[in-house]
Amino acid sequence: MTEKWEIKDKLKPSGLDGISNQQIDYHFETHYKGYVNKLNEIWEKLQSADRSKANQNYSEFRELKLEETFNYDGSLLHELYFENLKAQKSSVPEDLKKAIERDFGSYEKWVEDFKATGTAFRGWALLVFDLNTGKLRNIGADVHNTNGIWNAIVVLALDVYEHAYYTDFGPKRAGYLDAFMKNVDWSSVSKRYSKAVKCYEVFK
Ligand SMILES: [Fe+2]
Repeated sequence: MTEKWEIKDKLKPSGLDGISNQQIDYHFETHYKGYVNKLNEIWEKLQSADRSKANQNYSEFRELKLEETFNYDGSLLHELYFENLKAQKSSVPEDLKKAIERDFGSYEKWVEDFKATGTAFRGWALLVFDLNTGKLRNIGADVHNTNGIWNAIVVLALDVYEHAYYTDFGPKRAGYLDAFMKNVDWSSVSKRYSKAVKCYEVFK
């Protein structure tokens, strides 16, 4: 049976503060759905790909396996990104705030480091919970399927590919970073953090 990733239309945000519905529409309908559709196409093709011709320089199987992780991680990170944006204002819950202060010194220092990560990388800035150490970290990634660290759970996802902000901000990424921070849905971030802490208790 072929595995299938379902598109989650309910995650599409609207009415955000400083990020237009048009920007979100391009991003959600074209880019997010593009990753999911390609992932499903790859899974379909992997059903019948010729394993006997697998080759590290070039083979259909290698290309499918390479792009499987690109489109899997692209689908997953976009779902985390759209889920962690909401028009309704929210504030950082106390337990998460304490953990941020513990691992970054202060909330302000974390924001400074998170935005710097969003400026220094080509694809993603991610706040992750590191199951190896039980600490929160800011991680940058140029593409979906590299630069991650193993055993880390994404807590907050910020998409900094141009397609996420060019409609509204052109080349001015800083304005987008400010707008993103105004729209973070801290309840979804907090849920992921709580789950990650539970995982760490089992993992350590
Ligand atoms: Fe994106």
